[in-house]
Amino acid sequence: MGESIYGMKRTHRCAELGLENVGETVTLMGWTQRRRDLGGLIFVWLRDRSGIIQVVFDSSSNKELFEKASGIRSEYVLAVVGEVAKRAPEAVNSKLKTGEIEVLAKELRILSTAETPPFSIEEDSDVNEVLKLKYRYLDLRRPDMQRNFILRHKVAKVARDYFDEKGFLEIETPMLTKSTPEGARDYLVPSRVHPGKFFALPQSPQLFKQLLMVSGFDRYIQIVKCFRDEDLRADRQPEFTQIDLEMSFVNVDDVIEVNEGFIKRLFKQVLGIELETPFLRMPYREAMDRFGSDKPDIRFGMELVNVSDIVKDCDFKVFTDAVANGGSVRAINAKGCGDKFSRKDIDKLVDFVKTYKAKGMAWITVGENDIKSSLTKFFTPEKMKALLERMEAEPGDLICLVADKNEIVYDALGQLRLELARKLDLLNKDEFKFLWVTEFPLYEYDEEEKRWVAKHHPFTSPMDEDIPLLDTDPGKVRAKAYDIVLNGVELGGGSIRIHDQDLQSKMFELLGFTKEQAWERFGFLLEAFKYGTPPHGGMAYGLDRLVMLMAGTSNIRDVIAFPKVQNSSCLMTNAPDFVDDRQLEELHIKTDIKG
Ligand code: AMO
Repeated sequence: MGESIYGMKRTHRCAELGLENVGETVTLMGWTQRRRDLGGLIFVWLRDRSGIIQVVFDSSSNKELFEKASGIRSEYVLAVVGEVAKRAPEAVNSKLKTGEIEVLAKELRILSTAETPPFSIEEDSDVNEVLKLKYRYLDLRRPDMQRNFILRHKVAKVARDYFDEKGFLEIETPMLTKSTPEGARDYLVPSRVHPGKFFALPQSPQLFKQLLMVSGFDRYIQIVKCFRDEDLRADRQPEFTQIDLEMSFVNVDDVIEVNEGFIKRLFKQVLGIELETPFLRMPYREAMDRFGSDKPDIRFGMELVNVSDIVKDCDFKVFTDAVANGGSVRAINAKGCGDKFSRKDIDKLVDFVKTYKAKGMAWITVGENDIKSSLTKFFTPEKMKALLERMEAEPGDLICLVADKNEIVYDALGQLRLELARKLDLLNKDEFKFLWVTEFPLYEYDEEEKRWVAKHHPFTSPMDEDIPLLDTDPGKVRAKAYDIVLNGVELGGGSIRIHDQDLQSKMFELLGFTKEQAWERFGFLLEAFKYGTPPHGGMAYGLDRLVMLMAGTSNIRDVIAFPKVQNSSCLMTNAPDFVDDRQLEELHIKTDIKG
């Protein structure tokens, strides 16, 4: 420690002290967690980012100092000089890291007084989040929040160190740029110098990192802010951070290998957890069929089972129609839930799947000698037996079935699976189950716009063996794209890029861009690709999501110092806000909304 103020030099952080320091004179600086007055003694808990230590003011040893200490209130900022002493055995506080010692004060400076804060600064406080975010700087004083940011710092440091060792260079890319193709809405910044024109804040550095490969940097990494104007969720922010990387002369395996090395190192170094590599790899198709999701949580089972072939000729029209129309009937065996759940609980599950657009949910509860189900009247006993066998049903189980178009069946049952896991308490946040989801479809059909859109982005390479399908069956083309998934969260994703101009033109054509439109949007990249482009690929992690899972929280705001709330505003600064008319005039912007 080298800080000094009013001639006092800080020697330690509070909780860095231990029994080994007994007898030393130390100078500490920090905030008052609390002050207790016990007649002739005042106990002050002094807090800094390392933790808390008890400071004792004794009226019998220094009356003047004692008087001064009686003026201390919560959150006052203090500098204390004192001697570290061992506490008597009966006074040891096992809840404090420093509970075996205390500091006997010899000198006190009140560096700053404080008003009573709007909430007390406590670990895991359940104060309403609106209040906490308005006074975020106070919320951030709480030890659990400080731990999150110390963790975040370590994650970023390991990332820089690891990728540096692997020959990656950190290169910055612009924030004021042109619209990028990640598919969300852009945040726009008006140009004063070019009235009527706008910069876009980057949704990711995608095109720039590809250009850096054209420039020959060969391995790039950047910890970088990205901006996307999209609806917020628990794991989404309009402004978030990526660990973004790109490599030349690589295939999918190379990218995956270097990244598994990173994750392994990260978990070992930061959390002390030894992860097994290589991680599981699962093609997209299999992930959808087994888990109804392209980001499966594989900490628990209850996989989806296709029963279309069994039920396609039963007497239940909902099932037969779904199959006849190209959809499917799939089911989950909620193990033990037939016994556990009441009729009312099951009705709640039916309502739950309806929020994911399923028209309903059929169910069967399996007893020792009988079953209860609204389906019995539509099924012959043989069919019911075949269904139960396929579902590996045992007494006590609850079978949940959804029939619809495949996307709806996947989504409804995929979400139901997670809901059941939450209800059954199967989600252990200390368990880290990684996998790679690979072979994503290159295209997705946009029902609203009635056209093919790129599932990842338009620079993603198709798999070599699927190139012939580009002309005949674009929906079947798989991409050299991969996502890394942890506990049901998409942590990151990337792809091998197209570096062949003809293939790139074809891709644009299929996406419905005319040559002119493609050049207008991405001309600088297409131009660059004319001058010698190395084959390349890469990926990006959501740093916030990574830290969120490592910190054991499910709220991304817990790991972003100054986050936005649901409606994309900041409760502390009140941003976004109206600006002066003069600022608008300079930008040639007129709005019909008055502040
Ligand atoms: P992608 O769009 O999949 O890929 O983004 C990469 C990762 O960034 C995180 N992420 C977010 N985190 C918080 N809030 C958001 N709004 C948000 N959006 C995305 C996710 C996601 O997996 N340029 C490509 C990468 C590449 O191809 O190399 C890209 O940005 O964890």
